[in-house]
Amino acid sequence: MQKENRGATNPQRFDTIVREIFAPIYPVIAQQIINKTGVQSGKCLDVGCGTGALGRSIAKHSDLHVTYFDQSVEMMMLTMDYAKEENLILRSDFLVGDVHELNLKDASMDLVISRGSSPFWVDWKRAYGEILRVLKVGGKAYIGGGFGNAELREHIVKTMNKNNPDWRNSFKDKVVLEREALPSIMLSLQPSHFSIIDDESGYWIYITK
Ligand SMILES: C[S@@+](CC[C@H](N)C(=O)[O-])C[C@H]1O[C@@H](n2cnc3c(N)ncnc32)[C@H](O)[C@@H]1O
Repeated sequence: MQKENRGATNPQRFDTIVREIFAPIYPVIAQQIINKTGVQSGKCLDVGCGTGALGRSIAKHSDLHVTYFDQSVEMMMLTMDYAKEENLILRSDFLVGDVHELNLKDASMDLVISRGSSPFWVDWKRAYGEILRVLKVGGKAYIGGGFGNAELREHIVKTMNKNNPDWRNSFKDKVVLEREALPSIMLSLQPSHFSIIDDESGYWIYITK
């Protein structure tokens, strides 16, 4: 499996973008995830957590214990700093690794979330297979990308386009390929349920094991 760092290759710059531009989306998405899945306690895994913004929002909106997971050590150091600052450390675990070989036990998670990471995964069938492996039976996954709602999306896209017109180039083709691949991947992995959410909140796959 390739170990090249993919997605947000400059953690400091990504952290600045998250703090200065993306910040308002995470509480909105966290609430959407909780409303949709109904999962508010137990164990949550945030795959490709970056600086942990979504997982930290989920922790603040629920009683969930969050395992922050990313392949980048630098991202994980930033996530740890923020979790400490925000008094979340007692409900946090931090794990560096690759989604294609999750170093986690079978059936150990109630909820798996991931935002903005899956287009960078090199083998979606294997990655989604790993996510299903670590979910408990009846556990939920909410994976995809988006900016919360139409108003936030419009503001963020405008700001990002102004700062760097090429900002989507590293992932836009992969987003299309992943969407095309998902139905047959789900057919072969056979979760008990999956559906696609494609609306102003973004594009997400919602899975029940
Ligand atoms: C665009 S960032 C999104 C970060 C965060 N989820 C957010 O919404 O702010 C993508 C993250 O996915 C991580 N990532 C990409 N491929 C990965 C893999 N195979 N395993 C684990 N993490 C991965 C990157 O290191 C990066 O932190």
